[in-house]
Amino acid sequence: LVVTRSVVAWHAVRERDPFARLNRAEGRRDPYALYAEVRAAGEVVPSATMGFQTASHQVCREVLRDRRFGVQAKDGPRGDGQMSLLELDPPDHTRLRRLASPAFSPRALAGYDERITAVVDGLLDALPADGPFDLVAGLAAPLPIAVITDLLGVPDASTADFARYGATIGSALAGPQSLAHVARLVAANRRLGGVLTDLFDLRRREPGDDVVSRLLAAEGDQLRPDELHPLVMLLLLAGFETTVNLVGNTVLALLDHPDQWRAVADDPGLAAAAVEETLRWDPPVQRTLRVASVDVELAGTTVPGGSKVLLYLAGAGRDPAAFDDPDRFDLTRVGGAEHLAFSAGAHYCLGAPLARLEAVTAVQRLAERFPRLERGGRLRRRSGTVIRGPVELVVGQPAAA
Ligand code: HEM
Repeated sequence: LVVTRSVVAWHAVRERDPFARLNRAEGRRDPYALYAEVRAAGEVVPSATMGFQTASHQVCREVLRDRRFGVQAKDGPRGDGQMSLLELDPPDHTRLRRLASPAFSPRALAGYDERITAVVDGLLDALPADGPFDLVAGLAAPLPIAVITDLLGVPDASTADFARYGATIGSALAGPQSLAHVARLVAANRRLGGVLTDLFDLRRREPGDDVVSRLLAAEGDQLRPDELHPLVMLLLLAGFETTVNLVGNTVLALLDHPDQWRAVADDPGLAAAAVEETLRWDPPVQRTLRVASVDVELAGTTVPGGSKVLLYLAGAGRDPAAFDDPDRFDLTRVGGAEHLAFSAGAHYCLGAPLARLEAVTAVQRLAERFPRLERGGRLRRRSGTVIRGPVELVVGQPAAA
């Protein structure tokens, strides 16, 4: 009886745990209400299933910058190595990050904006003049794939394969949804691996001025052969699902606040402010995880070594201690803390300058070409809750009077 009672009690606790509820309908509808609940419960809150959780901006930032927190569970099984940097701690992380980062620095990307504008314009040209069209299929989804394959030097002939396999594997970032999904992922992973091997062979024969050629040049010396594959896979995939959702979430936020869409249509230079406010208010990557390597005192709570801490990056963006009136979407917002949409510390998003460039160009050109854009029908959201954004967002504009 005692055992039954404690099992029932444990279930009740688990049922109430905001983390467990995130993956149900209420979490998909409004995760921000659950982050607020976590914040109301304290700065560092135990989770029935996941160690600890926090939606405090201050605590998230502190954990991300604290070297006593890593990404690898010391006792648990290592990942399959497929995600590279994201799953590595120093010193391997530091070495690989140093190799990959020059290609994504703002300086390396200077001059890249013309190519991104050309891709965006090509996609916009193909859309019906007044709609309706699906903003995700027509603009948000094809853009990052076109850009990253170009940057990695993938020949045109393989781009379609990359897009297909990449989208399948990228969807795993949201957690597999079913057994069939898992099987599909494994198959896509193998086939994408084949495409990558061909790419490496090509660039060994004909090196170019691209990221893969530069990584191949470091192979053997600073890069082990078995590290190359997962690193390039990560560079390819990290920007697929995330950038799609940054474009989708920005356009969705603007169209749901029509005065702010009008402001951007009147002055497309405001696109950068709109993207930045979206990163705070409704970011694509909602949460991440860290593991304490030793006992750590965190906002008055002892987090024992080995414990996991769930960091709600999206919750940090709505923390009233960091932002005035945090639930208001306002692209004229000034002051306030820095959002954590690209994380912070050692794993700060390597692709942040590229993601910003892509999203700002997309929103700016969209506003120039479709100034009277409005929601025109369906909005379908992704089912996972790690990555948040629309999978379908139908828009259009009434014919000019
Ligand atoms: C890491 C977000 C686009 C490459 C991360 C992390 C976040 C993030 C939150 C760190 C996760 C953690 O700390 O646990 C985003 C968002 C994007 C975006 C919101 C778009 C809107 C891109 C793009 C690339 C990229 C376009 C292109 C290469 C990476 C890489 C890492 C990373 C390589 C791992 C860095 C490391 O572990 O050292 N990203 N990302 N990301 N991102 Fe992005």
